Amino acid sequence: MEFGRSVIDLMKARKSIRSYEGEKLGPEDKKKITDYIKKEHNTIFGSKLRFEFIDASDLNPDDLKNLGTYGMINGAKYFIGGTIDKNNKMKYCLVDFGYVFEKILLFLTDLDLGTCWLGGTFNKKGFSDKITLKEDEIIPGVSPVGIISKKRNLKSSIIRRLAGSKNRKPWSKLFFSGSFLDPLEESRSGTYKEALEMVRIAPSASKMQPWRIIKEKGKNVFHFFIDRSKFYQRRSVYLNLQYIDIGISLCHFDLAALELGLKGKWEARDGIQENKGYGISSNIEYIITWNGS
Ligand SMILES: Cc1cc2nc3c(=O)[nH]c(=O)nc-3n(C[C@H](O)[C@H](O)[C@H](O)COP(=O)(O)O)c2cc1C
Repeated sequence: MEFGRSVIDLMKARKSIRSYEGEKLGPEDKKKITDYIKKEHNTIFGSKLRFEFIDASDLNPDDLKNLGTYGMINGAKYFIGGTIDKNNKMKYCLVDFGYVFEKILLFLTDLDLGTCWLGGTFNKKGFSDKITLKEDEIIPGVSPVGIISKKRNLKSSIIRRLAGSKNRKPWSKLFFSGSFLDPLEESRSGTYKEALEMVRIAPSASKMQPWRIIKEKGKNVFHFFIDRSKFYQRRSVYLNLQYIDIGISLCHFDLAALELGLKGKWEARDGIQENKGYGISSNIEYIITWNGS
């Protein structure tokens, strides 16, 4: 494993940090970060991704403002930005982006640094300049990275409360057995209980938790879907964010399964979306299947 600690413990420990200490990061930490984000990361759909470390510690306040996070983030002097190639199939690039960026955020959690997924509240132009965005690239998300402020500032407490950071949907709303008609209780989930729990606690845009999983009866086969609420169906920016969310859920499931010694592989299966037996409604979109041995 690429982490010093149990990745399951890191998933449990990670939370969105919106307030940072003014302290600078040491050269060792900066090197660890750049080495990690620059390494070859496996992806599920083979997308081309690029990640950059942005050191804004010497920027004057105006320039720092241009790298705006719309007042959501306090005191951050460092950021990670990532790009996808817009010529490739966008949907799968966004899923891969979510998968790898979340892995990076878990790596930073392992270094005891704070992070916060930002998919909407950042200044695209400011970040494009900083990472010299190429013509065929877009930035789906960024994150501040830094030393977590010891003082909990009022604004970040309010945002956390509004985002409902602690609460997650119950198992019965997320996981199913055989079809969407039959909720999967923890007691019936077998050896994959903890991997599913890691999906349940994953971060998502506006904490929508759009992931839904059907486990095939009697098999370690898990089909992953997106459930789009009516509100989200009408706004294309959210469609993209929810592909990222699914990538995050795949990251948690995959890394947890690896740590638990559960073997399997990802397969994009034909015919799932059309299969009447799964009880799939029109707001549900099939993404991929985990075929566990
Ligand atoms: C794809 C994505 C985009 C997000 N965009 C923002 C954002 O623009 N601004 C923000 O303050 N939080 C953003 N968040 C953070 C979520 O609000 C947060 O992850 C969620 O409420 C769960 O809280 P937790 O991360 O503390 O577990 C985003 C999260 C994800 C996964």
